[in-house]
Amino acid sequence: MEQQLQQLKEEALKKIQDAQGVKELNDVRVAYLGKKGPITDLLKGMGKLPAEERPKMGALVNVVRETVTEALESRMAVLEEAAIQAQLENESIDVTLPGRPAPAGNHHPLTRVVEEIEDFFISMGYEIAEGPEVEKDYYNFEALNLPKGHPARDMQDSFYISEDVLLRTHTSPVQARTMEAKKGEAIKIICPGKVYRRDNDDATHSHQFTQIEGLVVGENIRMSDLKGTLDLFAKKMFGADREIRLRPSFFPFTEPSVEMDISCFKCGGAGCNVCKKTGWIEILGAGMVHPNVLKMAGYDPSVVTGFAFGMGPERIAMLKYGVEDIRHFYTNDIRFISQFNRTEA
Ligand code: PHE
Repeated sequence: MEQQLQQLKEEALKKIQDAQGVKELNDVRVAYLGKKGPITDLLKGMGKLPAEERPKMGALVNVVRETVTEALESRMAVLEEAAIQAQLENESIDVTLPGRPAPAGNHHPLTRVVEEIEDFFISMGYEIAEGPEVEKDYYNFEALNLPKGHPARDMQDSFYISEDVLLRTHTSPVQARTMEAKKGEAIKIICPGKVYRRDNDDATHSHQFTQIEGLVVGENIRMSDLKGTLDLFAKKMFGADREIRLRPSFFPFTEPSVEMDISCFKCGGAGCNVCKKTGWIEILGAGMVHPNVLKMAGYDPSVVTGFAFGMGPERIAMLKYGVEDIRHFYTNDIRFISQFNRTEA
């Protein structure tokens, strides 16, 4: 029996030493020290031995059990350490590897132009106003001196929600709304926003587009203020050597009304394809607020005057960036959008 025990010990120690992983080692533990293992068996069989041999054999079995247990524990410590080491190596990060680029989006070219225009007017002390895109006929037309049946309405056909409600055809209704809300106070606002017209879409027309309205109302607001403002604006947007030209025009809500042209930024006025050989590029419509419009909004035209202007950021973006089709702004082709990398902060 002693010999058997000795053999068992050698065998167990060898298996412990050979175990290559925590799980394998645990199997060895169960096999030798478990309830059904040979050592337990030996202890159980102790009763069959002659009484005088029992203490000696019992002590021997215990020594073997302790030796095996110790060997198991120390091997377990080594294997666990190795497992942790392997995991660390596996999960380690090589901080010297080049980073993966995170693609950063750009602002939409139209957003950039609108923000550039906003920044300019904010720097001149203007506030930003907003109005609804679903608008009342009253604000879109009537309060702007375009009564029902006025022929100038034909220029701005719209999408009607009902007889009296439509998608606004321009941002000018915000003029009327702002004056009504300010109740006679001085006003200096711009209003960027979406507008709608019942047009067939082509390279220069879209049933939905953007406008920026401007309105200044107060005492002693003169045509020269409008001209100076537009001149500064043209230089800011299109270059310091731009000149402006005001041509007579007609809008029912301004009197007098003008169209503003800028000297061509490409050829400087000599004539090229951008200015269609005229040297001038049409940019926006403007004028002095019509007395009827002031009156309807509760202002006294004998005390206050005002100027207004309206421009299309799409047109300005198309000119600035040489975009040949207005539909590019809305069709979200990433190849178009990503050409406008945001360079300034
Ligand atoms: N609302 C006009 C348009 O859409 C533009 C404009 C605005 C003209 C303000 C004069 C003053 O055509």
